[in-house]
Amino acid sequence: MKLRARQKLGKYRILGRIASGPLADVYRAYDSIQKLNVALKIPKIEGNVGYDEVLHEVRVATKLKHPNILSVLNASYVDDHFVIAMELGEESLADRIERRTSITQLLELAAQGLAALAHAHDHKIIHCDIKPENFILFQGSQLKLADFGWDDDPATAGEKPNISTTALLQHVDHVFQIFDVSALVGT
Ligand SMILES: Nc1ncnc2c1ncn2[C@@H]1O[C@H](COP(=O)(O)OP(=O)(O)O)[C@@H](O)[C@H]1O
Ligand SMILES: [Mg+2]
Repeated sequence: MKLRARQKLGKYRILGRIASGPLADVYRAYDSIQKLNVALKIPKIEGNVGYDEVLHEVRVATKLKHPNILSVLNASYVDDHFVIAMELGEESLADRIERRTSITQLLELAAQGLAALAHAHDHKIIHCDIKPENFILFQGSQLKLADFGWDDDPATAGEKPNISTTALLQHVDHVFQIFDVSALVGT
């Protein structure tokens, strides 16, 4: 069920929809108790299907505290919706690279993206879905990695092997490719 602008969800008032995907909707909302705007991610959980994955996503994002990783402010059931409240960013990297961006700026963004990946790797987490849509920009061009729904976490996933350097390098390579493309698009 889609939420409408001005609709209330516990202490949150919906301001508008930011994105809608097959697995989740993301809204801009106002937290009437803490008096700040937040992003609310509402995963599409059917019965219990997808619930474990959503819990896992929240726990990974909570564990990874880093200036370049999106923070979860709260996660709970509100009025039958599982609601993940996060800091509200300005736009995704995918939106930003549609506009002209200098090489210096792109390299600065790439450095922040790699810092996020390195921190996740230090905690044995491989994101597994690195793409511009999953990086969110904040004031001052601060970049934060979001959406750990596809991550590979050996600690919680049981039998998965330790992360290999090859796997990490593939991801780093992937990031460089994204920023290579960004540079072409943006210049
Ligand atoms: N904290 C946020 N602030 C601003 N926009 C966000 C935030 N989180 C997500 N978004 C927007 O919503 C989109 C989908 O969010 P994401 O967590 O990647 O969900 P999905 O699992 O559907 O891919 C992102 O690409 C971005 O445009
Ligand atoms: Mg995503």
